[in-house]
Amino acid sequence: MALREILIAPHPALKTKAEPVVDVDDEVRELLDDMLGTMYAAPGIGLAAPQIGVAKRLVVVDVSAKDSPNEPLHLINPEIVATGETREVAEEGCLSLPDIYADIERFERVFVRFRDRDGAVRELDADGLLARCLQHEIDHLDGVLFVDHLSMLRRRMLLRKLAKQQREKQRQAS
Ligand code: NI
Repeated sequence: MALREILIAPHPALKTKAEPVVDVDDEVRELLDDMLGTMYAAPGIGLAAPQIGVAKRLVVVDVSAKDSPNEPLHLINPEIVATGETREVAEEGCLSLPDIYADIERFERVFVRFRDRDGAVRELDADGLLARCLQHEIDHLDGVLFVDHLSMLRRRMLLRKLAKQQREKQRQAS
């Protein structure tokens, strides 16, 4: 497993639509391992391949509680095939937008179809935090960031705040 660099907005790779994975082979499994290790190290609860500069439809997620065993999910070509009717608003963040948070409206429940590490087709009926996390990560595969769900004004404000924070971080490092 190798730790990968997580790209920070407004990196253009984060705005790119990712390609479906055709063959679930060792190369793909290695990528998933790198992604999961990188996500745990960050730490975060979800990571999509575009966030490490790989334009493939791969997502890793683990929403288990901090003091309980890990429950990693590896999703290849995940797609939302159905949703519940209820939506709810909750605060989100993203490893590609460090220290930026905003209230985002999502479906409370989603049905996701994907391929697992062995290439088998699986379906997941998710609600709560897992449903939110899956919607956020699948958005990444289409080049959509959580701030893209906000008004243009609010998005610009948050992206400016992020840019300023990144400049200050760079200044402190140099
Ligand atoms: Ni994210």
